[in-house]
Amino acid sequence: MCGIIAAASNRNVGKLLVQGLHKMEYRGYDSAGIALHQLDKIAHLRTLGKVKLLEDKMIQEKPKSKLGIAHTRWATHGEPSEENAHPHKSNERVYIVHNGIIENYLELKDYLKKEGYSFTSQTDSELIAHLLDFYLNKDKTMIDSMYMTLDKLEGAYAIAAIDKEDNKNIVVARNKSPLLIGLGTDEFLAASDPLAISQLTNEFIFLEDGDVAQISADDYVIFDESKNPVDREITKIDISNQATSKGDYKHFMEKEIYEQPQAILNTIDGRVGGDDVLDNIFGLGSSELFEKVKRVQIVACGTSLHAGRVAANWFSAISELPTQIDYASEYRYRNPHVDENSLLVTISQSGETADTLAALRYAKEKEYISTLTICNVPTSSLARESDYSIFTNAGPEIGVASTKAFTTQLAALMLLALSLAKSRDKNPKLRTRVVTAMRSLSDTVQETLKLRDVILEIAPEIASKDNALFLGRGIFYPIAKEGALKLKEISYIHAEAYPAGELKHGPLALIDEDMPVIALAPESEIAEKLVSNLEEVKARGGTLYVFSDPSISMDLKAGRLINMPKCDFLLTPIIYTIPLQILSYEVALLRGTDIDQPRNLAKSVTVE
Ligand code: F6R
Repeated sequence: MCGIIAAASNRNVGKLLVQGLHKMEYRGYDSAGIALHQLDKIAHLRTLGKVKLLEDKMIQEKPKSKLGIAHTRWATHGEPSEENAHPHKSNERVYIVHNGIIENYLELKDYLKKEGYSFTSQTDSELIAHLLDFYLNKDKTMIDSMYMTLDKLEGAYAIAAIDKEDNKNIVVARNKSPLLIGLGTDEFLAASDPLAISQLTNEFIFLEDGDVAQISADDYVIFDESKNPVDREITKIDISNQATSKGDYKHFMEKEIYEQPQAILNTIDGRVGGDDVLDNIFGLGSSELFEKVKRVQIVACGTSLHAGRVAANWFSAISELPTQIDYASEYRYRNPHVDENSLLVTISQSGETADTLAALRYAKEKEYISTLTICNVPTSSLARESDYSIFTNAGPEIGVASTKAFTTQLAALMLLALSLAKSRDKNPKLRTRVVTAMRSLSDTVQETLKLRDVILEIAPEIASKDNALFLGRGIFYPIAKEGALKLKEISYIHAEAYPAGELKHGPLALIDEDMPVIALAPESEIAEKLVSNLEEVKARGGTLYVFSDPSISMDLKAGRLINMPKCDFLLTPIIYTIPLQILSYEVALLRGTDIDQPRNLAKSVTVE
C-alpha cells in the first residue's frame, strides 16, 4: 500500500505535498515523511504516526522548496518507526519514496553491502536509493540509473526519486503499483491516486507498467519499458471537494453510510429501462458475450468477496448459472480448472487490490471466455485490464471500512445477474419484478437509515462485550459475515458469522449471557427454521438482537426484535446491511476507536 506524491513547481510545494498525503492516508497511516530540495541541501523530515504529526513538524520548521517527494506508509518490511519511514536516502544525495514490495530485497541488500553501502532501515525500499546512487556515481543520468535499478528489481513498485545535484527534475517509475502524473498550472505532479492532487488539476496521465517518467515545473517526458519516449493519453477527472470532505459528519464512515441512497441511484441510473435491464451496460458487445456464458467464477477480497457471495445466489436464481467463488489471495494456488465458456468476474472498490489484480492477470492466461470487473474507480488497474466493466459510481470512499462501496457493488452485481439472464433468455417475469423493485431501492435504503435511533439503544449493550456472533441463512449468511467483519475491524470486538443452522454443530457451545447474537431474519421459506435456531440460542441464555420482517414473531427474553422495512426478497440483503453498518459505527464510537483509520489496516491493499 502506502501513498506517494511528488511535485515540481514554480511555487513552494511543502504544503501541497502534505495536503496530498492527507488525502492518501487511506493507503496507510503508520508513518509519513517528506524530502524537499533546497538547492544546496535536501530537507528531510519523517515522523512516526499519522500525517498530522508530519504537518506539525513542517509548521515548526517551515522548509521552503519548489521540488519535493512525500510518503505515507503502511508497514510491510520493518515495524512502523521513524527510521523505516520514507523518504529513504543514499549518501545525502538520492532520496526516494516507494509503494510496493521488492521481492528480491535480501539478495540486493547483500550486493549493495558488498559495494560499501550501509542500511539504516529494515525496509525493502532503502535499497532503491542506494542502487540509484550507485549508478549515478558511474556518471549515468537519473533516467539511466532508474532503468538500471529497475532491471535489478523484482516485485511491485511505484517510485519517485530526487537527486541533490539536480534541483529541477523528479524521476518516477511504475510496475504493478498505481502511479499517475498530474498536469497542473506551472507545475507537474505525480501521485498514487488522483485524489491526492485533485485540488490542483483535473488532468491525469496513468502510467503503464514499465514506464519511467521525468517531471519538472515546466515539462514532463514519459518513456516505455524499452526506453522509447511515448505519448500516454490524458484523462480528465473531476473530483469535487464535497466528495472528499466530511462535511457535517463526524467521520467519513458515517457520511458514506448516509450517502448510500444517492450512491445506489448512481449505480442504477441509465442502466435499467421500463421493465428490464438495458443492453450492453457492461461494455459494447457484452450482451452478445453473455449469451455464451455457461459458468461464472468470482474472485475478490474482504467486503467485496461478501458481495460476490450474495451475487452467486442471484446468478443461480435469476441467470440460472453455476458460480464458483474464491478468495483472490487463494484462487491462483488451487490450480483452478476452467470450464468452457466461463466468465471471470472480479469485484473491487479500489480496483488496485494486489491479490485481485494478480488473480485477474493469472486468469487472463487461462481459457476464460472473458473477464469483467465491478469496480468503483474507473481509472484503476483492474478497470483498465479487464475486458468488460461496470462502475459502481459510489464516489470516493475514504473510510477504511467499506460501506457504500458494498451496497453499490450489490446493486451492480444484481444488474449483472439480470443482464446474464436477459442474454440467456431466462426468467423474464422475475427480471421485471426485480427491475421494478430496484427503482424504489434507494427510497427503502433511506427509510432503513431511520433505524439509527433503535440501534443507538442497543449499541451500548454490544459495546460492553468482547465477542459477538452474527447469524444469517442462505443469501443472508454473507450479510452476517459482512456485519461481523464491519464490527471487528472498527470496534476491535471479536465477531464471527455462521449460517444459523450450523450453530448446533459446535458454535452453540459459545453461547452465554456474554455473547450477544445478532440475527438476520427476513421473511423467507426458511424463516421458521431460522426462528427455531434462534430459540436454541434463547434457551441457552444468549441475548438476541434480531433484525426481522414484521411478519416474524418471537418472544425474546432479552435483547431486541427490530422490524425492517419491506422490500423485494432478492434485494433485502442490501437493506439488511444498513443497520449492521450503523451498529458497528455506533459501537466503535462508544469504544472510542479510530473509526476511519482502524489500527493495522489500510484502505487500498496493494501488496499480496
Ligand atoms: C472491509 C474492507 C476490505 C476490502 C478489501 C478489498 O471494510 O474494506 O475488506 O473490501 O480489502 O478491497 P477492494 O474492494 O478495494 O478490492
